[in-house]
Amino acid sequence: MKKQIAALILAAIPMFGFAAAGEYPLDSVSIDLTDKAAMQDGAKTFVNYCMGCHGAKFQRYERVANDLGISEELMMENLVLTDAKFGDHMNSSMTAADAKSWLGVAPPDLTLVARVRGADWLYTYMRTFYEDPTRPYGVNNKVFPLVGMPNVLVGLQGRQEIGCKQVQIEEDGKKVFDPLTGVAVTHEACDQLTIVPKTGSLSEVEFDEKIKNLVTFLEYSANPVKLKSQRIGTYVLLFLAFFFVFAYFLKREYWKDVH
Ligand code: HEC
Repeated sequence: MKKQIAALILAAIPMFGFAAAGEYPLDSVSIDLTDKAAMQDGAKTFVNYCMGCHGAKFQRYERVANDLGISEELMMENLVLTDAKFGDHMNSSMTAADAKSWLGVAPPDLTLVARVRGADWLYTYMRTFYEDPTRPYGVNNKVFPLVGMPNVLVGLQGRQEIGCKQVQIEEDGKKVFDPLTGVAVTHEACDQLTIVPKTGSLSEVEFDEKIKNLVTFLEYSANPVKLKSQRIGTYVLLFLAFFFVFAYFLKREYWKDVH
């Protein structure tokens, strides 16, 4: 009997594992770390909307300016909003202790957050705040339930509500159409997010782009040498390709006399 119970418990473990992993599906985003315009836009969003609470303390303004092709003058005028100097670290204007007493929880430093959470998680997180009057800031989040951060981008995105709505059925990523009427087949799904029209200054497509740029900046920030290592990687591959051809002819030359 004991053995059977143990077997049952063991059999149930994968089920729990699945339930934990199969939570809100993440939207995937493809990040291009060579797109400087995207990173500049992301940096702008970051200093304007995030640095009131979060810092990127392992990152310096000067380094960002150099990596993203921003002049010192432009950087100081537009992206350094505190009394920080060009060579300073990008610290938040709030101290951790103040933040804790005001917000109840200290906002974590975001320099490395892209490495910890991943780009898809960040992209989904920033776009899935929804109204929930039971929460202190009136919002909850799909990938970070009971989050202690207000929806700071609500002015851009607009208010997002959760509820039931008609969604189109898709098979293999393609919409399904009714063969008789030619109309797309829908079904009612609940737990769906909808933006209240005209409550934000950006369209949904524009907002997604803004967030993609912000995530691109965070991804760069978490790994500033990635830009360089990608370039070096290309050289290494080119060199190997060249060397392979060279080695091949050398081999042919040597073995010619042996055969
Ligand atoms: C009003 C202060 C405030 C502002 C402004 C703010 N946040 Fe937050 N943020 C928080 C707090 C507080 C938490 C911690 C939430 C918790 O643990 O429940 C947090 C958590 C996060 C997390 C989750 C970190 C983790 O791995 O647990 C991310 C990512 C994040 N914020 C990104 C941003 C970005 C990007 C912006 C700017 C667009 C921003 N935040 C603006 C207060 C803020």
